[in-house]
Amino acid sequence: MRVVVFISGRGSNLQALLEHQKNYTVCHVISNRARANGLSIAKSYAVPSTVIPWRDTAQAEAKALALLKVLNPDLIVLAGFMRVLSASFVANFPFKIINIHPSLLPLYPGLNTHQRALNDHQTKHGATVHYVDQHLDRGHSISQSHINITAQDTAETLAARLLSKEHTLLTTTVNKIACGEIYWQDNQLFYNNQLI
Ligand code: GRF
Repeated sequence: MRVVVFISGRGSNLQALLEHQKNYTVCHVISNRARANGLSIAKSYAVPSTVIPWRDTAQAEAKALALLKVLNPDLIVLAGFMRVLSASFVANFPFKIINIHPSLLPLYPGLNTHQRALNDHQTKHGATVHYVDQHLDRGHSISQSHINITAQDTAETLAARLLSKEHTLLTTTVNKIACGEIYWQDNQLFYNNQLI
């Protein structure tokens, strides 16, 4: 399975994906920022990358679409990609775009998830891998990873503790999609032949 990864910055999830390629290959990286650290990570793995500035969404999406038509990936992974894709863009790739989000969706879509979980005195927090549809962070959830929140936690400690969980969650999920353990049938999502 050929995977294209979209990034905006640090790229630690991209690195995890590159380290754990088993049933899939990361064939290209797209970044909206020329200075994204993830671009160096792609380079160190000899994975080609393209920078598409996202100042004008329609123009950027047209460029991304043209590139993706050539690359023809089986899966697009948004790994720390900080731009919202339009409904018309997403409609080109039904069941083919997934995202990693640092909260237990449907809780806390959007930004500042760790602080919002603390503000609400949650005892659990986590990350979600989900399909991307036209609504921000609201597509069908695929998998989640949980951590406990302790009295000492800050947004920073939570983010740090969650990140390594994110890496495992994302790489395992992509490998499961790639080997067909997670699949869509008749608009329903299955994992090991069970509806999820
Ligand atoms: C991760 O926390 C991811 O869940 C969120 O953005 C962050 C990206 O980190 N969407 P990195 O660039 O993969 O290190």
